Amino acid sequence: MSDIVLRKAGLLDLEAILEIDQSVFPEGISYDAETFLFYLIDPATSVVATEVQGSIAGFIIFREQSAKTGCVVTIDVAKEFQGRGFGSSLLNEAETVAVETGFSSIILQTAVNNIKAIHFYEKRGYTRSRRIKGYYFDGTDAWEMRKKLPANDVLIGEN
Ligand SMILES: CC(C)(COP(=O)(O)OP(=O)(O)OC[C@H]1O[C@@H](n2cnc3c(N)ncnc32)[C@H](O)[C@@H]1OP(=O)(O)O)[C@@H](O)C(=O)NCCC(=O)NCCS
Repeated sequence: MSDIVLRKAGLLDLEAILEIDQSVFPEGISYDAETFLFYLIDPATSVVATEVQGSIAGFIIFREQSAKTGCVVTIDVAKEFQGRGFGSSLLNEAETVAVETGFSSIILQTAVNNIKAIHFYEKRGYTRSRRIKGYYFDGTDAWEMRKKLPANDVLIGEN
């Protein structure tokens, strides 16, 4: 497929981001417009999108959790674009930014029933660190997952 770019997302992407999030997550797990608006304008947050022929196919939201820890808030790839490596490249991008920023690890939360995402993250070096009861608005528990990052600024490509 041609015309694929990774780029920083901005306010003009809010509608597309919201649409993808609501299409891949059930109500109660998906975020609302105000939350995405916050992430798009917050200087401590990076929102990176995969654009395919001018339209957003997926995005990642990555932010500082603490001085040494970054946090993946979410990775969303629209259903029709899943399984083509976009999620992996978005995660690689966040990990590259994390290493450059000086973070030593990345943390994230994913619903305990999101088997595909858990497998996706485990295959990419994340391990379950604890179960958080009632993490989501609908009462679903989350797995907190962590990955230790390389100490230098060279990331070994995983995909
Ligand atoms: C989880 C998610 C982000 C993964 O994104 P994705 O773009 O489908 O991920 P990738 O394509 O990089 O990898 C998925 C699989 O497709 C395979 N794949 C990668 N490139 C491929 C290609 N060109 N053709 C076919 N398959 C490919 C990968 O090997 C991978 O399989 P593996 O996990 O067994 O290694 C996506 O499924 C999604 O948005 N899910 C809904 C939202 C969600 O649950 N987000 C995560 C929770 S925060």
